[in-house]
Amino acid sequence: MNSLKHLAIIMDGNGRWAKKQGLIRTKGHEAGANVVEAMCEFCIRNDIKILSLYAFSTENWSRPKSEVDFLMDLLLKFLVSKKESFIKNEINFNVIGDIIPFNDKLRDEISNLKSLTKDNKKLKLNLAINYGAKDEILRALKRMQEQNLDINEANLEANLDESEPIDLLIRTGGEKRLSNFMLIQASYAELAFTDTLWPDFTSLELEKIVQNFYQISRRFGGL
Ligand code: FPP
Repeated sequence: MNSLKHLAIIMDGNGRWAKKQGLIRTKGHEAGANVVEAMCEFCIRNDIKILSLYAFSTENWSRPKSEVDFLMDLLLKFLVSKKESFIKNEINFNVIGDIIPFNDKLRDEISNLKSLTKDNKKLKLNLAINYGAKDEILRALKRMQEQNLDINEANLEANLDESEPIDLLIRTGGEKRLSNFMLIQASYAELAFTDTLWPDFTSLELEKIVQNFYQISRRFGGL
């Protein structure tokens, strides 16, 4: 049976979910944020050690300002409201992506939550915000240059925001693309796509995808 250490999810379909309900798009994002906790609990129950979630891409800044502002506000509320639960459930909260463009309040809350949960061992939750794989690779190369490191795979991987390869990458919402998400870490990931819109995604469906993953023959380019 394959081991599943790192699960990653591209959480897509919030806007369409809201439209289907006759609601404004932002209600879809709110509903989407409410799904995250169940996913963390699933990972903890199943001994999955890293969960990486794509919440805001480097390309998402091009959305209308009102939606971007809403997402920033939602993110802040999410961080504040999950503090107790991350501590109680021993979740190590981490961010991947470049947080420099965020406002001081958001950056402070991120570093506060990171430091409060840094010793937690049950699950590492990577929230990808202002994240793009190309941007991550460039930032890793700059770090390597600053340290005068040799250009090799080991140094590149060690300088990424997350070094651990993804075992299983799921995208909800029906599209079949990676959208600049963790391209190096996903090099040998098994991919699963579902039409389910993110706010409707449940642990039951995740369980089915994970069971299917366990049966796959993973060869990593070998025989
Ligand atoms: C994709 O749906 C989702 C996003 C761009 C944002 C992801 C945000 C969340 C899941 C909620 C916020 C999460 C946290 C942790 C605060 P879309 O808007 O592209 O949907 P569409 O494809 O149906 O338009």
